[in-house]
Amino acid sequence: MFTKNILLAIVAATLAMAASPVGSGSWTSVSPSFSVQQCAGGTVSGSTFKLPKSPNGSTSGSGCSNGHLRAERRYNNDYSSGIHQFGGEFKITSLTGDRIALKQTFNGDAGPYFIMGIKSTGDIYNIEGGATIASGVAKVGSTVQINTVHDANKKTYTVYVNGKKSYTDSSAPGGSFYDKFGAYTSDSGSGAITVTWSDVSFWTQ
Ligand SMILES: *[C@@H]1O[C@H](CO)[C@@H](O)[C@H](O)[C@H]1NC(C)=O
Repeated sequence: MFTKNILLAIVAATLAMAASPVGSGSWTSVSPSFSVQQCAGGTVSGSTFKLPKSPNGSTSGSGCSNGHLRAERRYNNDYSSGIHQFGGEFKITSLTGDRIALKQTFNGDAGPYFIMGIKSTGDIYNIEGGATIASGVAKVGSTVQINTVHDANKKTYTVYVNGKKSYTDSSAPGGSFYDKFGAYTSDSGSGAITVTWSDVSFWTQ
């Protein structure tokens, strides 16, 4: 019985680490460090990100000067060349808000570049520009797999939702980029939300 339990634990651990990259080429797994940003009432607990309904009025803290609700990890993977992939799964466990960013590729030179948001309808969309990326998939309780591939040499950016290529920008800007994920209200957005990210991986080539 003891042995069987150990075997089951090993199988479960292996399945939990089963993230794999999408797209062509030979990917190298990397593990950048990150810092946590909690603003205006947003809180981070492990990989669970929580925003209340509205901001608490505080603008102090890292990344908090605009007063928006924020609960995010800022990865220290700054790059201006090469090919960079992010992979992870999110599950929204409660949502009364709307238009909330869950994943960002930030351009340290020019500000936000790609911001993937969700709407109360379950749509995934590009907050910069408004294009719908996937309709109705980000429902409360559903697990959604996201991969982003940014070729900073060719200036292309591709988003895969549940393994399906769902958005491509073939004229991405230049600059110095880094990844963020968690929860952050857009200009027209509001809380509340609780979302958990899991199985997050980074690769480069
Ligand atoms: C608002 O929330 C932030 C965390 O997101 C916290 O650091 C700050 O102390 C809070 N401010 C007030 C006035 O409650």
